[in-house]
Amino acid sequence: MSIEIEILNGDASWPLAEPLITAVWPPEVKAALPWGGITVAYPDFRVLLEAQDEDYESQGVVCHVGILRRRATLNGRPVHIGGISGVATREDHRRRGLATIALNAALRTLKDEGSIGFALLFCEPHNFDFYRARGWFPFEGEILAEQPAGHGRFDVLAPFVFDIVQKPRKGVIDLRGLPW
Ligand SMILES: CC(C)(COP(=O)(O)OP(=O)(O)OC[C@H]1O[C@@H](n2cnc3c(N)ncnc32)[C@H](O)[C@@H]1OP(=O)(O)O)[C@@H](O)C(=O)NCCC(=O)NCCS
Repeated sequence: MSIEIEILNGDASWPLAEPLITAVWPPEVKAALPWGGITVAYPDFRVLLEAQDEDYESQGVVCHVGILRRRATLNGRPVHIGGISGVATREDHRRRGLATIALNAALRTLKDEGSIGFALLFCEPHNFDFYRARGWFPFEGEILAEQPAGHGRFDVLAPFVFDIVQKPRKGVIDLRGLPW
Protein backbone atom coordinates (compact mmCIF):
# COMPACT_ATOMS: atom_id res chain seq x y z
CA MET A 1 0.00 0.00 0.00
CA SER A 2 1.17 3.53 -0.72
CA ILE A 3 -0.31 6.73 0.64
CA GLU A 4 -0.75 10.14 -0.96
CA ILE A 5 -1.34 13.11 1.30
CA GLU A 6 -3.11 16.27 0.17
CA ILE A 7 -4.31 19.40 1.96
CA LEU A 8 -7.25 20.86 0.09
CA ASN A 9 -9.85 23.61 0.42
CA GLY A 10 -12.51 22.40 2.85
CA ASP A 11 -15.66 23.01 0.79
CA ALA A 12 -14.19 21.93 -2.55
CA SER A 13 -12.84 18.66 -1.11
CA TRP A 14 -16.04 17.64 0.71
CA PRO A 15 -17.07 15.22 -2.11
CA LEU A 16 -13.74 13.39 -1.62
CA ALA A 17 -14.11 13.24 2.16
CA GLU A 18 -17.82 12.52 2.33
CA PRO A 19 -17.76 8.69 1.79
CA LEU A 20 -15.26 8.25 4.64
CA ILE A 21 -17.03 10.67 7.02
CA THR A 22 -20.41 9.03 6.33
CA ALA A 23 -18.94 5.52 6.83
CA VAL A 24 -17.36 6.49 10.17
CA TRP A 25 -20.39 8.49 11.37
CA PRO A 26 -23.50 7.19 9.55
CA PRO A 27 -26.34 9.73 9.99
CA GLU A 28 -28.42 7.40 12.19
CA VAL A 29 -25.40 6.61 14.42
CA LYS A 30 -24.40 10.28 14.62
CA ALA A 31 -27.95 11.32 15.55
CA ALA A 32 -27.80 9.08 18.63
CA LEU A 33 -24.45 10.49 19.86
CA PRO A 34 -24.36 13.16 22.60
CA TRP A 35 -22.95 15.65 20.08
CA GLY A 36 -25.19 14.52 17.18
CA GLY A 37 -27.44 17.58 17.45
CA ILE A 38 -24.65 20.16 17.63
CA THR A 39 -24.39 22.69 14.80
CA VAL A 40 -20.73 22.76 13.80
CA ALA A 41 -18.47 24.91 11.64
CA TYR A 42 -17.04 23.24 8.54
CA PRO A 43 -13.28 22.96 7.97
CA ASP A 44 -11.39 25.61 5.99
CA PHE A 45 -9.01 22.87 4.80
CA ARG A 46 -8.92 19.08 4.90
CA VAL A 47 -5.94 16.75 5.19
CA LEU A 48 -6.83 13.76 3.01
CA LEU A 49 -4.85 10.54 2.86
CA GLU A 50 -5.58 8.46 -0.22
CA ALA A 51 -4.40 4.84 -0.30
CA GLN A 52 -3.30 2.93 -3.40
CA ASP A 53 -2.88 -0.85 -3.53
CA GLU A 54 0.09 -2.75 -5.08
CA ASP A 55 -1.42 -2.24 -8.57
CA TYR A 56 -1.70 1.53 -7.93
CA GLU A 57 -5.49 1.18 -7.81
CA SER A 58 -6.94 3.94 -5.63
CA GLN A 59 -8.63 2.77 -2.43
CA GLY A 60 -10.09 6.26 -2.03
CA VAL A 61 -9.68 8.55 0.96
CA VAL A 62 -8.86 6.42 4.02
CA CYS A 63 -8.05 9.15 6.55
CA HIS A 64 -9.32 12.68 7.12
CA VAL A 65 -8.50 15.61 9.40
CA GLY A 66 -10.31 18.96 9.15
CA ILE A 67 -8.50 22.27 9.80
CA LEU A 68 -10.18 25.53 10.86
CA ARG A 69 -8.85 28.94 11.85
CA ARG A 70 -10.80 31.03 14.32
CA ARG A 71 -10.40 34.54 15.78
CA ALA A 72 -11.53 33.79 19.32
CA THR A 73 -10.77 35.07 22.81
CA LEU A 74 -8.91 33.53 25.74
CA ASN A 75 -9.83 35.20 29.04
CA GLY A 76 -11.19 38.15 27.06
CA ARG A 77 -8.03 38.66 24.97
CA PRO A 78 -7.96 38.03 21.22
CA VAL A 79 -6.38 34.75 20.17
CA HIS A 80 -6.03 32.98 16.83
CA ILE A 81 -6.99 29.33 17.34
CA GLY A 82 -6.32 26.45 14.97
CA GLY A 83 -9.23 24.04 15.05
CA ILE A 84 -8.98 20.31 14.35
CA SER A 85 -12.13 18.39 13.47
CA GLY A 86 -13.42 15.19 11.88
CA VAL A 87 -10.40 13.02 12.70
CA ALA A 88 -11.31 9.72 11.07
CA THR A 89 -9.64 6.65 9.56
CA ARG A 90 -11.51 4.03 7.57
CA GLU A 91 -12.04 0.97 9.76
CA ASP A 92 -9.95 -1.37 7.56
CA HIS A 93 -6.98 1.05 7.64
CA ARG A 94 -6.78 1.75 11.39
CA ARG A 95 -3.75 1.19 13.64
CA ARG A 96 -1.23 1.88 10.88
CA GLY A 97 -0.36 5.40 11.99
CA LEU A 98 -2.52 7.19 9.40
CA ALA A 99 -4.39 9.48 11.79
CA THR A 100 -1.06 10.35 13.42
CA ILE A 101 0.37 11.32 10.01
CA ALA A 102 -2.72 13.38 9.13
CA LEU A 103 -2.78 15.13 12.53
CA ASN A 104 0.91 16.00 12.21
CA ALA A 105 0.28 17.45 8.74
CA ALA A 106 -2.61 19.52 10.10
CA LEU A 107 -0.50 20.83 13.00
CA ARG A 108 2.39 21.64 10.63
CA THR A 109 -0.04 23.64 8.45
CA LEU A 110 -1.29 25.59 11.48
CA LYS A 111 2.24 26.24 12.81
CA ASP A 112 3.39 27.43 9.37
CA GLU A 113 0.71 30.14 9.44
CA GLY A 114 2.78 31.86 12.11
CA SER A 115 -0.15 33.53 13.87
CA ILE A 116 -1.85 30.57 15.60
CA GLY A 117 -1.61 30.57 19.40
CA PHE A 118 -2.68 26.96 19.94
CA ALA A 119 -4.70 24.17 18.36
CA LEU A 120 -8.00 23.01 19.83
CA LEU A 121 -10.17 19.96 19.26
CA PHE A 122 -13.17 18.41 20.96
CA CYS A 123 -13.45 14.69 21.67
CA GLU A 124 -15.23 11.94 23.54
CA PRO A 125 -13.68 10.15 26.56
CA HIS A 126 -12.75 7.02 24.56
CA ASN A 127 -10.30 9.13 22.53
CA PHE A 128 -8.63 10.95 25.46
CA ASP A 129 -5.67 8.53 25.58
CA PHE A 130 -5.21 8.70 21.80
CA TYR A 131 -4.78 12.50 21.94
CA ARG A 132 -2.78 12.55 25.20
CA ALA A 133 -0.33 10.09 23.60
CA ARG A 134 0.11 12.59 20.74
CA GLY A 135 0.97 15.60 22.91
CA TRP A 136 -2.50 17.09 23.43
CA PHE A 137 -3.57 18.39 26.87
CA PRO A 138 -7.06 18.65 28.35
CA PHE A 139 -8.29 22.25 28.62
CA GLU A 140 -9.84 22.41 32.07
CA GLY A 141 -11.56 25.75 31.71
CA GLU A 142 -14.80 26.83 30.08
CA ILE A 143 -15.69 26.93 26.38
CA LEU A 144 -18.27 29.40 25.06
CA ALA A 145 -19.70 28.98 21.56
CA GLU A 146 -22.58 29.89 19.30
CA GLN A 147 -25.49 27.55 18.60
CA PRO A 148 -28.75 28.31 16.81
CA ALA A 149 -30.35 28.81 20.25
CA GLY A 150 -27.74 31.42 21.18
CA HIS A 151 -24.31 31.98 22.73
CA GLY A 152 -23.43 29.89 25.76
CA ARG A 153 -21.42 27.20 27.46
CA PHE A 154 -20.25 24.34 25.21
CA ASP A 155 -19.59 21.23 27.29
CA VAL A 156 -20.94 18.31 25.25
CA LEU A 157 -17.42 17.26 24.24
CA ALA A 158 -14.09 17.64 26.04
CA PRO A 159 -11.67 20.31 24.76
CA PHE A 160 -8.02 19.32 24.15
CA VAL A 161 -5.22 21.76 23.37
CA PHE A 162 -2.01 21.38 21.39
CA ASP A 163 0.53 24.03 22.38
CA ILE A 164 1.98 26.17 19.60
CA VAL A 165 2.89 29.55 21.11
CA GLN A 166 0.43 29.55 24.01
CA LYS A 167 -0.20 26.76 26.53
CA PRO A 168 -3.70 27.36 27.85
CA ARG A 169 -4.97 24.89 30.44
CA LYS A 170 -7.59 26.94 32.34
CA GLY A 171 -9.73 30.03 31.88
CA VAL A 172 -12.42 30.87 29.35
CA ILE A 173 -12.17 30.35 25.61
CA ASP A 174 -14.92 32.10 23.67
CA LEU A 175 -14.99 30.59 20.20
CA ARG A 176 -17.04 33.60 18.99
CA GLY A 177 -18.75 31.30 16.50
CA LEU A 178 -19.87 27.72 16.01
CA PRO A 179 -17.81 24.92 17.58
CA TRP A 180 -16.18 22.22 15.44
C1 LIG B 1 -9.30 7.54 16.40
C2 LIG B 1 -8.89 7.15 14.98
C3 LIG B 1 -9.02 8.37 14.08
C4 LIG B 1 -7.44 6.66 15.00
O1 LIG B 1 -7.04 6.42 13.66
P1 LIG B 1 -5.78 5.50 13.29
O2 LIG B 1 -5.41 5.82 11.88
O3 LIG B 1 -6.07 4.09 13.64
O4 LIG B 1 -4.68 6.09 14.28
P2 LIG B 1 -3.13 5.68 14.37
O5 LIG B 1 -2.90 4.44 13.59
O6 LIG B 1 -2.34 6.89 14.06
O7 LIG B 1 -2.99 5.37 15.90
C5 LIG B 1 -3.87 4.43 16.50
C6 LIG B 1 -3.15 3.46 17.32
O8 LIG B 1 -2.51 2.53 16.48
C7 LIG B 1 -1.15 2.44 16.88
N1 LIG B 1 -0.38 2.22 15.68
C8 LIG B 1 0.12 3.17 14.88
N2 LIG B 1 0.79 2.59 13.88
C9 LIG B 1 0.68 1.26 14.07
C10 LIG B 1 1.14 0.13 13.37
N3 LIG B 1 1.87 0.28 12.25
N4 LIG B 1 0.84 -1.08 13.83
C11 LIG B 1 0.10 -1.24 14.92
N5 LIG B 1 -0.35 -0.21 15.64
C12 LIG B 1 -0.07 1.03 15.21
C13 LIG B 1 -0.82 3.71 17.53
O9 LIG B 1 0.25 3.55 18.45
C14 LIG B 1 -2.10 4.03 18.21
O10 LIG B 1 -2.18 3.36 19.44
P3 LIG B 1 -2.28 4.19 20.78
O11 LIG B 1 -3.53 5.00 20.71
O12 LIG B 1 -2.33 3.12 21.82
O13 LIG B 1 -1.06 5.05 20.85
C15 LIG B 1 -9.77 5.99 14.44
O14 LIG B 1 -9.79 4.95 15.39
C16 LIG B 1 -11.19 6.40 14.09
O15 LIG B 1 -11.47 6.83 12.97
N6 LIG B 1 -12.11 6.27 15.05
C17 LIG B 1 -13.53 6.59 14.84
C18 LIG B 1 -13.75 8.09 14.72
C19 LIG B 1 -13.24 8.85 15.93
O16 LIG B 1 -13.51 8.51 17.06
N7 LIG B 1 -12.47 9.94 15.64
C20 LIG B 1 -11.96 10.83 16.64
C21 LIG B 1 -12.84 12.03 16.71
S1 LIG B 1 -12.23 13.17 17.94
